[in-house]
Amino acid sequence: MLISIVISSLIACGGSEPKVEAPKAEAPAAAPAPEAAPAAPAATYTPTELAAKAYEAAKAAGADVKPNALSGNAEAIAKGKANYAGKCASCHGAEGGGDGVVGAALNPKPANFKDKVRWDFTTVGTKQWILMNGIAGSAMAKLVADDNEAAEIVAYLETLPR
Ligand code: HEC
Repeated sequence: MLISIVISSLIACGGSEPKVEAPKAEAPAAAPAPEAAPAAPAATYTPTELAAKAYEAAKAAGADVKPNALSGNAEAIAKGKANYAGKCASCHGAEGGGDGVVGAALNPKPANFKDKVRWDFTTVGTKQWILMNGIAGSAMAKLVADDNEAAEIVAYLETLPR
C-alpha cells in the first residue's frame, strides 16, 4: 500500500510532460509610490506686531516668568469663569475658541485660547500681564485692574481643553 502510493506519486511527478508553470499572477503594476504626503504644515503662530510688542513689554517687566499662584484652584477658576463670561466671551467666544460675536468683525482676531500652539507661545504670566495692560493698539484693551482677578481668569483659561 505505502509502496504503491510512493510509486504512483513518483509517476505523477516524473511524467515527461514539461510542467507548465502556472503563470505567476502578474504583480499589479506597482502603484507609483504615493508622493510623500506633504508634511502637515508645522502648526505655527506668528504674533501680530502689536502682540509681539506686548509680549516684549511683559518680558521687560519680568511678568512673563511669574507663575499663576491660583492655577488649579477650584474657587478661583469658578470666579475666573464668571468674569470671563462677562468681560471676555464677546470677543474670545463662550468656550474660549476665539469666536465671539464681537470678535468676528475684528482683524486681528481675538486669541483662540484652545489653540495649543498659540497658548504655549506665551506664559501664563504674559497672559496675565496682557489682561492688565492690554495689547496696545489692538482691540485687546486693559480690562482687568486687579491682579487677583487677572490670576483667576487665567486660572480658568488654563482649564480649557487644548
Ligand atoms: C473687544 C474684543 C476683546 C475683548 C472683550 C477681549 N479681548 Fe483679548 N484679545 C482681543 C484681540 C483682538 C486679541 C489679539 C490681538 C493680537 O493678536 O494682536 C486679544 C488677545 C488676548 C490675549 C493674548 C493671547 C496671546 O497669547 O497672544 C489674551 C491673554 C487675552 N486677549 C485675554 C482676554 C481676556 C481674559 C479678556 C477678558 C477679560 C479679553 N481678552 C477680552 C480682543 C478682545
